Amino acid sequence: MRLEKISPCKVNLILNILGKRADGFHELETVMQPVNICDRMFFERTGGGLQLTCNHPELPCDSKNLVHRAATAFLTAAGITDGVKIHLQKNLPLAGGIGGGSANAAVTFTSLNELFGAPLPLKKLHELSAALGSDVPFFLYSKPALATGRGENVQALEDFPALKGRAFLLVHPGFGISTPWSYQNLARFPKDQNGTAGRAAKLVSLLQTGGLKAAAAEIYNSLEAPAFDKFPVLSLYKSFFREEGALVSLMSGSGSTTFAICEDWESAEALAEKFKSRFGNQGWLATVAI
Ligand code: C5P
Repeated sequence: MRLEKISPCKVNLILNILGKRADGFHELETVMQPVNICDRMFFERTGGGLQLTCNHPELPCDSKNLVHRAATAFLTAAGITDGVKIHLQKNLPLAGGIGGGSANAAVTFTSLNELFGAPLPLKKLHELSAALGSDVPFFLYSKPALATGRGENVQALEDFPALKGRAFLLVHPGFGISTPWSYQNLARFPKDQNGTAGRAAKLVSLLQTGGLKAAAAEIYNSLEAPAFDKFPVLSLYKSFFREEGALVSLMSGSGSTTFAICEDWESAEALAEKFKSRFGNQGWLATVAI
């Protein structure tokens, strides 16, 4: 049996950091929205061992790869001695703040569980995911979510009425930002490191009941402060999107991807064209209906 799966990405509609914890992580509250732009993954049982291949030259295929680590954690937890062959077709940019690697890990957990006849319950997959990375558990649920703690406590939600019919434009500038770097440098911006709790829940309620215009005022990312300080071009992208009529524009996660929410897919396409004529054609850019 061979499984072929899509591995989507996400944007953070709010990333509100509440403070630094004793364990070195940051306490946060975030609203994550799945985005249907995907890597592809292939899973196959083999006699023994773990073989990972990938089309992307910069991605290691050993235990430095989250997919490799997820597969090892799964096989160990489930007590499986059979082997598995995994191929990752990377389409999404690396270190982009859109959770590509985290999604790959979550898809590995759910796919191996399917391939081996569901030996582990969802609760266990969640636990293994959280041990691998703060954003990994979110991708087990394929739904918008409110996440708290360091990001691993996930409350899955129904689709937001305020986003119905809208579309995303995502732009990656051609360079990534390291997540640990982002959090370390947030210390230079004490106000952004110590946000007020409750903003994410307020945003959820506005997205569920009101229009996007009302919600837009609550859309915010604490990690823009260090990123915009070092990479001012990201702040230019954000302003450009707003000046050109996007309903929302924000950097996602720890960056470097910046996104716009547009009225509909045609407006997102038109904004993409304007972006290319203003900033050139380097980097990565994608539009997708929500
Ligand atoms: O959990 P994840 O592997 O994504 O975290 C990468 C790094 O980002 C952590 O080692 C930590 O430095 C930082 N981080 C943090 N607070 C969070 C999530 C991540 O400080 N809530």
